[in-house]
Parts: sequence; structure tokens; C-alpha cells
Amino acid sequence: MKKIAILTNGGDAPGLNAVIRAIVKTAETNGIEAYGFIEGYKGLLNNDYVRLDPNGNASGILDKGGTIIGTSNNTNVFNYKVVKEDGTVEYQDLSDKCVENIRNAGFECIFTLGGDGTQKSSRDFCLKGVNCIGVPKTIDNDVAHTETTFGYNTAVSVAMEALDRLHTTASAHHRVLTLEVMGRYAGWIALESAIAGGADVALIPEIPYDINKVVEKIERRKQNGKAFSIVVVSEGAKPKDGEISIKKVLDDGAGLDNIRLGGAGELVADQIEKLTGMTTRNTVLGYVQRGGTPTSFDRVLSTRYGVKAMELAMQGIFKVLVTYKGGEMGYVDLDDVVGRDAKVGAASSKNRTVPLDHDLVKVARELGMCLGD
Ligand code: F6P
Repeated sequence: MKKIAILTNGGDAPGLNAVIRAIVKTAETNGIEAYGFIEGYKGLLNNDYVRLDPNGNASGILDKGGTIIGTSNNTNVFNYKVVKEDGTVEYQDLSDKCVENIRNAGFECIFTLGGDGTQKSSRDFCLKGVNCIGVPKTIDNDVAHTETTFGYNTAVSVAMEALDRLHTTASAHHRVLTLEVMGRYAGWIALESAIAGGADVALIPEIPYDINKVVEKIERRKQNGKAFSIVVVSEGAKPKDGEISIKKVLDDGAGLDNIRLGGAGELVADQIEKLTGMTTRNTVLGYVQRGGTPTSFDRVLSTRYGVKAMELAMQGIFKVLVTYKGGEMGYVDLDDVVGRDAKVGAASSKNRTVPLDHDLVKVARELGMCLGD
């Protein structure tokens, strides 16, 4: 193996640069040249790539947020949205052009750093004869067959810090404060940060909530002398017999999740204020969960992902996703990972949501945390 390329696609996550660095360094150790496509699958389509130099542009990036090679969101080269001159939109399969670009450049493996959408395209390129290896990136932690995606731990830490800060102001003002966190259709960030930040209520997509149960919990606390409460709301949380909160429906084409979530925290806060009469304010944590420097855990995990990915390439093992399970690095066939139904309010059949018998759910319940049911 002489030449490989990396692309980072989809929403960014802390640790992307650490994975890039690990792949580039391992490549260098083994006499392989590494390149990076600019802005994910867009770079593949536009034949836009740069040399990644372990002593130059790929050095000093372990602690950096974002991605040095850029990323693109909602780009599906198998069904690419083309806006024509007259303003009409057409969806075209441009994947053969990408395959041609890879062949002409002589890349023997493409490392696809991304979530489930990215891995679906990665699998589809493998079916066209390209050697791909996926690395599971997402703060949402919802990729099938891997216990922890890189970026997740950092997102939880950021949410935890926000909860610590909300606690002091909630207590000072005798308020109920809700915090809306990311995670799409999986409640991992909400549940784990709620435990780490000592929240009183955590509402996750996997457990549709009854607002009366939330109100009961807040009032019980008040009777026990706690005149404030902290409620974590996953952006994908929905009321029992209700719908998820959608901010916008995009038209990026089939095979992508066109739903932009938003408003779940505000909805819960409004109802709490109405039903309890207590002053209630909502905070949307948003993109700070995705930006900035990765935690030590994410730096090490990302590095392990990168090294393992390059090792698999050198062993000639392709069409796989690198995995992390029980503390061990491994891999799984990309066919077992992908699958995106993209129905409104539904997790993809392959997304890894929080199992209701998961230890974190049990722990939350034993602590007396209200999960909305
Ligand atoms: O998948 C990561 C994520 O940050 C989600 O938690 C969130 O819903 C979404 O991306 C937001 O993505 P965008 O970059 O499209 O606004």
C-alpha cells in the first residue's frame, strides 16, 4: 500500500483531527502517503484533495476542534442535489465521477470519518469496488455496533458543565431551568449528562414523556424544600401521544435525514411554567457541544480509532467500520451498520438508541430522576 486518503463528512465532532493525525502518523511509520479530500464527499466529487504531511499540516492538531480538511453536511453523491440555472432542483447519481477521481489519483483506501449517513455512502462505494474503511464519528453516539463514538464524551462533558452552571443560578432564583441538548433520535447525551450533572429530570426520545409526571417531580422537590429543578431535554424528546419538535424540513434528497430538530426544550419549559406556576427558563446548548477541544478520553479514543483503521487497511480488510466495544478496538461489516429510513421522528432501523434496560436508565431511576414516565 502506497497511497491512502481521508475524508471527514457530516456534522463535525471533537476528535476528528486526532483521528486524522493518527492515520497520517501510522501511514508515515509504514511508508504510506496520506491525503485528505476537502469538505468530505464534496471533495471526492470535485477531485479536491491535499497531501497530509505528518511534519506539516497534520502536525499539532491533536487538541484542535473542527477538521483541518473541512466537512460537508447532507451531501449524498449517490443522489446529489443540483440546483439548475432556472432554479429547479434535480437529484443526480454522481458516484461514478467520484470513483474515477479515486482511481486516477491511485488511492488504495478511503477512510470515511462520519456518522451513519457517511457510512452508508462508504458502503455503497465499496459495492462499486472502492476500498473504504469507516470510522464512527458523532457526538450523538448512535452508530450501530460501536459502544462509543468519538466526540460523544466531549459533548457530554460540555453539557455537564452547563448543568453545573445552571444549578447555581436555578437555586439562586428558585427557578426551573430546562436544558435542550443534541442527540437526534438517541438520548445518550441527555441521559449521561443528566447523571453527570445531577439533573432532576431527563427526557429522552426513547421514553415519550408525560408532562404531568415531570410536574409531579418538580412539586415533590418543592415540598421537600428544593425550590428549583433542573430538567434535561433531548432535542428528539417527544410527549406521549405527541410529535417530536421540528424546526425545518430540508429538501436535500432521499437517503439523508432532512429533519432539523428544535424546540423540544422550549415546549417542555412552557408547559412546566403553565402547570406549576414556577418561573421556568430554557437554554438551548446547541453547537458548543460540537466545537472546541476534545477531552482526554476522546483524544485517546480517536487516536485508537485512527491507528486501528490504518492497521485494517494494511491487512487488506475493507468495507468495515472500526468499532470500540468493552474497551477493545474491533471492526464490523459496513452492511451491518448502515440503514437510514429517515422517517419523521423515527430513528433509522440501524441507529443505536438507548435500550430501556440499559444500566444508565436503571441508575437514573434508582437516583429518583424522573424520565417522564
Ligand atoms: O448529528 C450531530 C448533530 O450535532 C445532532 O446532534 C444535531 O441534531 C445535528 O447534528 C445538527 O446538525 P446541523 O449541522 O445540520 O445543524
